[in-house]
Amino acid sequence: MKIALIGYGKMGKAIEEIATAQGDEVVLKISSSGKNLFSIKNIQQAEIAIEFTKPESAVENIKMCLDANVPVVCGTTGWLKQFDEIKDYCNQKKGTFLYASNFSVGVNLFFALNKYLASLMSEHAEYNVSIEEVHHTQKKDAPSGTAITLAEQILEKIKIKTSWVNNETDKQSELGIISKRTGEVPGIHTIKYNSPTDVIEITHSALNRKGFASGALLAAKFIVDKKGIFTMQDVLGL
Ligand SMILES: NC(=O)c1ccc[n+]([C@@H]2O[C@H](COP(=O)([O-])OP(=O)(O)OC[C@H]3O[C@@H](n4cnc5c(N)ncnc54)[C@H](OP(=O)(O)O)[C@@H]3O)[C@@H](O)[C@H]2O)c1
Repeated sequence: MKIALIGYGKMGKAIEEIATAQGDEVVLKISSSGKNLFSIKNIQQAEIAIEFTKPESAVENIKMCLDANVPVVCGTTGWLKQFDEIKDYCNQKKGTFLYASNFSVGVNLFFALNKYLASLMSEHAEYNVSIEEVHHTQKKDAPSGTAITLAEQILEKIKIKTSWVNNETDKQSELGIISKRTGEVPGIHTIKYNSPTDVIEITHSALNRKGFASGALLAAKFIVDKKGIFTMQDVLGL
């Protein structure tokens, strides 16, 4: 595949390393200082664009790739209030788009486990559920996109919870997400069910960024010759 990397930071570089090793070619690299290269003509040199930048630039970048009629895989988190706008734009352009809050295959299995556990726990009101996420200090958004996905899955199954909040909470109707920022942690997510007598906990810990990068490339291969809007569930057949 010929790849345009929109965002050439920690994730862009991790993707380049794996892509090059598996015989793909990076034909365009865009960082905030090289934005003059980010043109429709240049994007069209690629068969697929992979966008990992920052919340404020993701929407504009995705639209530009859709304008160029190049399929886009996006991993930037923190812009989801505009997800419907992007869906409409993609449909209008008859384009191809895939967003995942987390590209790691392990996390997507963890999502499936989270849904299953939440459906079991929905019958047991004595357990109170909460989420904790830990990331490196340069992470711009909180809670993490992955924690939001986990929270939304839980809200779908546990009806006593009607919304999530990004702090500890005693309110029964709220699902608390605690965000911690420390050191170089690539990402730890824990779902905790506390009862007066015991605790059930499931945790996913990313050991490095390679899992995200190889998952993004897997997603890119999956959508490169397709039209429409996809998720990692489609890629992994979950
Ligand atoms: N979905 C997942 O699996 C997953 C996994 C890890 C991270 N993420 C998310 O991915 C995003 C990027 O993470 P990262 O760790 O790679 O961040 P990073 O190291 O800060 O890299 C961000 C890159 O985007 C560039 N950039 C900033 N503004 C831009 C713009 N307007 N147009 C083009 N490029 C621009 C930066 O350029 P300069 O260096 O020149 O400023 C830099 O190259 C974050 O939102 C993070 O939460 C998602």
